[in-house]
Amino acid sequence: MSARLLILPGDGIGPEIVAEARKVLDALAADGGIDFELETALVGGAAIDVEGVPLPPSTLEAARAADAILLGAVGGPRWEHLDIAIRPEKGLLGLRRELGLFANLRPALLYPQLAAASSLKAEVVAGLDILIVRELTGGIYFGQPRGIRTNDRGEREGFNTLVYSESEIERIARAAFDIAMKRDHRLCSVDKANVLEATELWREVVNRVAADYPDVVVSHMYVDNAAMQLVRAPKQFDVIVTTNMFGDILSDQAAMLTGSIGMLPSASLDAGAKGLYEPIHGSAPDIAGQGVANPLATILSVAMMLRYTLGRPELAARVEEAVSRVLDQGLRTADITAGAAAVGTAAMGDAVVAAL
Ligand code: IPM
Ligand code: MG
Repeated sequence: MSARLLILPGDGIGPEIVAEARKVLDALAADGGIDFELETALVGGAAIDVEGVPLPPSTLEAARAADAILLGAVGGPRWEHLDIAIRPEKGLLGLRRELGLFANLRPALLYPQLAAASSLKAEVVAGLDILIVRELTGGIYFGQPRGIRTNDRGEREGFNTLVYSESEIERIARAAFDIAMKRDHRLCSVDKANVLEATELWREVVNRVAADYPDVVVSHMYVDNAAMQLVRAPKQFDVIVTTNMFGDILSDQAAMLTGSIGMLPSASLDAGAKGLYEPIHGSAPDIAGQGVANPLATILSVAMMLRYTLGRPELAARVEEAVSRVLDQGLRTADITAGAAAVGTAAMGDAVVAAL
């Protein structure tokens, strides 16, 4: 059976890095390893330029019809003057919400070859393997009411709402416990239950779900402490489950422990096997079009797609091993190594294909 894949290159370095991921997909197809139909559509600023909106109905339609979606990145200074409701980021947020992609998996895995690139001492990060499970369709990102209004003193005020229902907490907690069962059986739930009622409930529901997973050791941490622990002793973590906004912040922080945010893939999954796969970094407008961006996070996102949507863990492992092999060969993009020694985006993609 052939899988339907939708490619959304997006903005900035998005098209460049997605092109390298495509080479990997094509190589796997040529090998007879996998069969898929590819479609490409516009999202983010690229869609605003052509259609006037960041998530055109045709893109959403194609996304609904697809089994899996591979996205580059969205956003850039060109669109920053636009109203927040029609900025490129809304294209991505709309996809997450409309497709019910509530479970965002963000692994922070240190490749031993890159230990020296980490901002922390090599012994603090050696062997690091954390999976952040970020709630992705609720919380303060989507809570109503929201906006900017004039209060009764005549002053403008901005406001957002942090809201989580029990069912929203329960389903992300279950997803995280299920993942912890397949890893080291340790789950740390990150909240701010000492201040925010929404996360007081979060903690209560996580504890309730924990009763169904007696083999998982559960802990709870306030987000400020979690941010500190991530740089103090990151290896204490196996799986972290947290809210949409805390997960946004902690996953960027955890990424840096691994040497470069340019290495980290992500999967955003619905209640079934459908997923949107993207690097966790952004569109990097400062280096867009120069052919220097690191395509490995996007290529590793293809590996996650093979594992979580396409049910081909052996092919996922093959891609991950190919990435490891190019690192063994000493190949590094400019985000990891400065100067003339760095290889470009296409050369890195070609090397991964060769290593496959
Ligand atoms: C991410 C990004 C997005 C987010 C932006 C681009 C809307 O930072 O995926 O982490 O905040 O979720
Ligand atoms: Mg982010």
